[in-house]
Amino acid sequence: MKIVAGSSSPMLAKNLAKKMSLEIADVSTKRFPDGEFYIKVNEEFEHAIIVQNTYPDENIVELFLLQDAVKRIADKIDLVIPYYGYGRQDKIFEKGEAISAEKMAKLIEQDADRVILVNPHKDHIINFFDIEAKVCDGVPSIAKFFEGKIDVVIAPDKGALEMAKKASEIIGCEYNYFEKTRISSNEVKMEIKDMDVKGKKLLIIDDIISTGGTMTKAIDLLKKQNAHEIYVSCIHGLFIGNADDRILKAGCREIITTDTIETAYSKASVAERISLLLQN
Ligand code: R5P
Repeated sequence: MKIVAGSSSPMLAKNLAKKMSLEIADVSTKRFPDGEFYIKVNEEFEHAIIVQNTYPDENIVELFLLQDAVKRIADKIDLVIPYYGYGRQDKIFEKGEAISAEKMAKLIEQDADRVILVNPHKDHIINFFDIEAKVCDGVPSIAKFFEGKIDVVIAPDKGALEMAKKASEIIGCEYNYFEKTRISSNEVKMEIKDMDVKGKKLLIIDDIISTGGTMTKAIDLLKKQNAHEIYVSCIHGLFIGNADDRILKAGCREIITTDTIETAYSKASVAERISLLLQN
């Protein structure tokens, strides 16, 4: 069995190989002058674990070609998609839209026997796959990092409440969330109900940081309430357009993410949790 490491998450692939006592397969890749991707697998093995994100777009084509090359050599393909890009559109919100999360699943499953997604935007996304599909939860990896450092875990909205609750149970502290009340068509009030955060050490947790708008707003509000220290964490740190700088400048002490998308903040690895799912 070999790990086939796509270019999106080499550190996670390496960590996974170490956890599972496997080697990374010898694969040659290049991009042609026009940007098209080329891959050649330089060895033979029966069972492959491919690790590759479906974000940004160029990584999707790379994934398809990795799958195609590997299926011509191996009998079995396990696919680990650390960050399942295109997961946000998981249903029809308005008539005429595509369901990108489903379309991606239908294309991916053509050349895979089993798939693991780390915290997809919604858990029901795994039901779009007709092959065995599992969700790996990266929240415990983040929570362990903050053990003994935090008084309250806060979800920036109700959607992240379950993550905040789980993290708080592991850390052994309280949890809460920002409730959003629509004041007018262009004004939303965000507040934490029934909790005084003054002087407390807070961890804000979400699944994705994209532009950083959600986190900076939450930090501003918590600072106004005289929070003592604010930490920010997420599973998938996209950090579009220097979002990390804006979050740090807003008054965050430290940003911690998992290694699904590799950045300087990827300090909580999900490799062990993925390896446990692969061994079951
Ligand atoms: C939204 O549904 C997600 O859970 C995140 O809250 C969102 O993607 C964060 O985006 P941004 O960093 O652009 O505010």
